[in-house]
Amino acid sequence: MGVEEKFKQSVKGIHTLLTILLIGFIGVLIILFFTIKDATTSTTNSPVLPPDYVEVPTQEDDLDKIENGIHVRTGFVEGEGLLLVVQNCTSCHSAKLVTQNRMSKEKWLATIRWMQETQNLWDLGVNEEPILNYLSTYYAPNQIGRRANLENVEWYELKE
Ligand code: HEC
Repeated sequence: MGVEEKFKQSVKGIHTLLTILLIGFIGVLIILFFTIKDATTSTTNSPVLPPDYVEVPTQEDDLDKIENGIHVRTGFVEGEGLLLVVQNCTSCHSAKLVTQNRMSKEKWLATIRWMQETQNLWDLGVNEEPILNYLSTYYAPNQIGRRANLENVEWYELKE
């Protein structure tokens, strides 16, 4: 092998080496670009939240907002005594435990007595009656979609 040949070969070698380095360098740049972009966008704009994340209401949010007749925070139906029920019936368990039940006034009272005897529910005092009225009005047992047909009705004419 002549000197010239050797020289040509080493030039070629350097050339290849430089090309590989260049490609590698560009590769590193691309990876850096995406990781930095990911890091900045995901932490500042849209933080990754757990699937069961619930937004905690801030001071400015209206905690007792009512929309379409429903107390938004708890799901209770709007009505007289609503706030008493919210204040007395949602600190130990979810409001759902209340709203998914349908009972007569007596049964609601029995449930309250049971909680007072076994679950440390406090004496509701003067609030007991309005609470019971609210519960037995809006969470009454006979809320079937449609009433039964009337039978044996004696119709009479309305007089002025
Ligand atoms: C001091 C805590 C506490 C308060 C306040 C409280 N409860 Fe309860 N309540 C409980 C516990 C504990 C249970 C049982 C929960 C369970 O079974 O997981 C319960 C269960 C219930 C149940 C289900 C009963 C059943 O037979 O399954 C209803 C309905 C209910 N509560 C309604 C109310 C209402 C209405 C109020 C407001 C007057 C209220 N709770 C306030 C502690 C409380």
